[in-house]
Amino acid sequence: MTIPATLPSLAPIAEDPPRSPDPLVRVRDVSHVEFIKPDLGAAESFFHDFGLHTVERTPHALYLRGAGSGHHCVIVRKGRRTAFGGFGFELAADDEAGLQRLAASPGAGPVVDLDEPGAGRAVTLRDPAGQQVRVSQGIASLAPLPTREPMTFNNYGQRPRANATQRPVPAPAHVLRLGHVVLESPAPRRAIRWYLDTLGLIVSDYNHLRHRPQDGPMMAFLRCDRGAEPADHHSLAIVYSPRATYNHSAYEVIDVDDVFASGTYLFGRGGRRTWGWGATFRAARSSTTGPTPTGCSSSTTPTATSSMPPCRPSGTCGGAPTTRSGASSPAAPTTDATSSASCAICADH
Ligand SMILES: [Fe+2]
Repeated sequence: MTIPATLPSLAPIAEDPPRSPDPLVRVRDVSHVEFIKPDLGAAESFFHDFGLHTVERTPHALYLRGAGSGHHCVIVRKGRRTAFGGFGFELAADDEAGLQRLAASPGAGPVVDLDEPGAGRAVTLRDPAGQQVRVSQGIASLAPLPTREPMTFNNYGQRPRANATQRPVPAPAHVLRLGHVVLESPAPRRAIRWYLDTLGLIVSDYNHLRHRPQDGPMMAFLRCDRGAEPADHHSLAIVYSPRATYNHSAYEVIDVDDVFASGTYLFGRGGRRTWGWGATFRAARSSTTGPTPTGCSSSTTPTATSSMPPCRPSGTCGGAPTTRSGASSPAAPTTDATSSASCAICADH
């Protein structure tokens, strides 16, 4: 991402606490993204090439899933103009009071039973930039779809594969689930605070511009607070930008070869890469990125494995451990301190 040099300085949000002491709720995971598109058939064709599967298609909407147990992770609604339609988070099934607290918050809609595939209940909110954020509960799970085994990789000092040829073929990715969403915001400090206070997200890392560290963080990676249960390094990221808009969503696939092979497949189907191969060092993720038929980027990322060097002093990055991305152990939230001046905005976000 290119950050215009004309952006005004930010207030030093590095001084803000990385978590809210008393959020309205603590969501468990990012659940889905929504797009609006005039041609549902073209959107379905793209997402099948990308690696998603149709759960249900009605005259008005398309519901797509990965191979994991999530009911759907992408909704495409029919509309006159191509647009981003918002995204959502999942709340624990037994936290009915949490849904009611959200419904009572300023600007929130009521708790409604979802009249769509997977059913469940939800409250619709608007974040400070006006993006629709739906918090849902009780959406049905599905049986996982069959998929291939992860590739076996040789590394220095470790040679588990000998005389065993592997030939990944260009094909749609084996998408398992939605991994994260990235939003652009002209007021990231306010946006970050809203997600911390309302949904209980925790800042895992701040990124700074290498040449303007005095401006404060230009990007924040936010994870879900699952208590002692490890969470992804980030389910949401917010990056400073002149406009408030969706930037991209990323989808977890089986391994690194899945990223390359599916990217090659999409390229052969007329797609184009907007960033090509990239790595998010904060979360130790790798990805390749291209535009969706909505004009919005989607990327694939292998099952995350990460260490999480925080940009903040020891103990200030919040309580819940991260990941799948490996990060800190359940007993030790975040430990190592990294000079914020040494951080650079990650190239693939
Ligand atoms: Fe990403």
